[in-house]
Amino acid sequence: MCGIVGYIGSENAAPVLHRALTRLEYRGYDSAGIATVFNGRVFVKKDSGRIEEIHKRLNLDDMPGGVGIAHTRWATHGGPSQANAHPHLDCSNSIAVVHNGVIENFLQLRKELTELNHVFKSKTDTEVIVHLVEEYHVRQGKPLLEAFLTALERIQGSYAVALISSNAAREILVARNDAPLAIGVGDGFNFISSDVTAFIEKTKRAVFLQNGEAAVVRADGYDIIKLATRGAVARKPVTLLWDIEMAEKHGYPHFTLKEIHEQPEALRNALRLQNIYVDLLTELLDRGRDIFLLGAGTSYHACLAGSYLFSKIARVATYPVVASEFVENYGASVNADTVILAVSQSGETADVLNALEHARLRAATILGITNTVGSTLTRISRAYVLQNSGPEIGVAATKTYTAQVLVLTQLALRLAKLRGKLAQFEMDEFKETLVNIPGIVEVVISRVEKPMREVAEKLVDKDVLLFLGRGVSSSTAAEARLKVMELSYIPCISYSAGESKHGPISIIDKGFPVFFIVPPDDDRKQNIGNIMEMKARGAMIIAVADENDDEVRELSDIFIGMPAVHPLLSPIPYVIPFQFLAYYLAILRGNDPDKPRNLAKSVTVL
Ligand code: G6P
Repeated sequence: MCGIVGYIGSENAAPVLHRALTRLEYRGYDSAGIATVFNGRVFVKKDSGRIEEIHKRLNLDDMPGGVGIAHTRWATHGGPSQANAHPHLDCSNSIAVVHNGVIENFLQLRKELTELNHVFKSKTDTEVIVHLVEEYHVRQGKPLLEAFLTALERIQGSYAVALISSNAAREILVARNDAPLAIGVGDGFNFISSDVTAFIEKTKRAVFLQNGEAAVVRADGYDIIKLATRGAVARKPVTLLWDIEMAEKHGYPHFTLKEIHEQPEALRNALRLQNIYVDLLTELLDRGRDIFLLGAGTSYHACLAGSYLFSKIARVATYPVVASEFVENYGASVNADTVILAVSQSGETADVLNALEHARLRAATILGITNTVGSTLTRISRAYVLQNSGPEIGVAATKTYTAQVLVLTQLALRLAKLRGKLAQFEMDEFKETLVNIPGIVEVVISRVEKPMREVAEKLVDKDVLLFLGRGVSSSTAAEARLKVMELSYIPCISYSAGESKHGPISIIDKGFPVFFIVPPDDDRKQNIGNIMEMKARGAMIIAVADENDDEVRELSDIFIGMPAVHPLLSPIPYVIPFQFLAYYLAILRGNDPDKPRNLAKSVTVL
């Protein structure tokens, strides 16, 4: 996730953009930059680092011109560096572009443009956009807007993009597909931005672009164009009722709630992996004699889910291990035939890095899944995949967890293909389900928030909660336990449901709340047996199960119905009710859900 902003009006653009950028810094903060147009020239200042550090070095306010674009970056392709910071320029230095999103076909486009003698200065996917526009506009002589629209036709992936040109000092061109973009409509000036926080101090009137739309934005107006038909779209501004703080959280009271709601977008981005890296990772995984999946906290639960997925999809056994336990307990077994796949949102967790350092010295192959380009994990991994979730500000991981599970699922699927372990029809069925996951999650979010808030109201004074699931759902139970416990401070227990009769059942008495995670999989029948055992002892049964599962519905005191999903992908939608439960329990108990006591987002000590 990055933030883009543009301004056109009578004020000097650079200081306005600088201030707006600081409002967007929560969207990413590894590099930033501004471009303006003045007297037929494009001016650019950009660097890696946080905005205020860059300002101290370069004085971002001191740039001429009443039109400009700016960017604050959360790297996806190419680490944080001056060259990779946006805005990006074409070869003639007359066009500047900022972009938020992921261009999936950038490698092909880059190759094609390089053959046409375009010189690339960065490692970003974004740079292909500016060279494409240059190709059509500067070299082939198409008008700027037509060149922009033609370039967009060549691009696959997600984008909110803004462009200025020295030949067109009176307009900013923008377009969106699967990344947010709003026009802030002022009196004699206009903004464009990833979100309204950037301009809400200056104007509360906004027009939201839809997917597949472009716009020409001038100081005194804007024209929206539908990309597919190039026809005009009429849309009036809406008036925003938010103040700046509400706007930063998109109107949600907390970042955690915002991030729970952002999961469909984060999952769409997690489906946009770069194939060459996924293939490389899969090939290296395939060579391992022993494969460890390593993580801490929530990322460990993604590993736990991953080990079921690797086994069931690719028929490959892996060991999920808590990072802090690795060196002492498994370290001696590591050798050159070992592959370690480390999962870490931050890529900086000390327990993970310590384990990897040990494994590196023993010549193991280190692979990574992370949300943070340039993190230590990306530097020490032989190959890594980025989950593309954007910054997560709530300390409790929500959107980054479901994205990690989706990345692991794709790796398992790729490994299955490589090893010829799946029949074509199974492969097709999975692929279809994968693509549908963001939509399924959207349905779940809209459906379960209210009932889970009511469950939270019922359970707010309980002393302990129990979470049970079988198979891959035991990882969902573990993550539910962690989420609810860390936000509510209520002690929680999770078990594989099959183990419940070997101990946990002794704590059950009348009204004891027991959550069952029961997707419609091979374990369902046995889960029903466990529900009956618990029910017979007076437990309050709260089941998260398929909406058509009438048998489970009958047995439950509270039934949370889920839309149909492939059972192996259930860890993604089925964890969402528990994220809401955790959030609302925190609120009801007066806890700060964004900053639970005693915890840190990234634990960089052993
Ligand atoms: C901390 C955070 C957790 C997180 C864990 C691992 O404990 O509070 O939310 O899951 O670290 O972090 P990582 O960045 O390695 O995924």
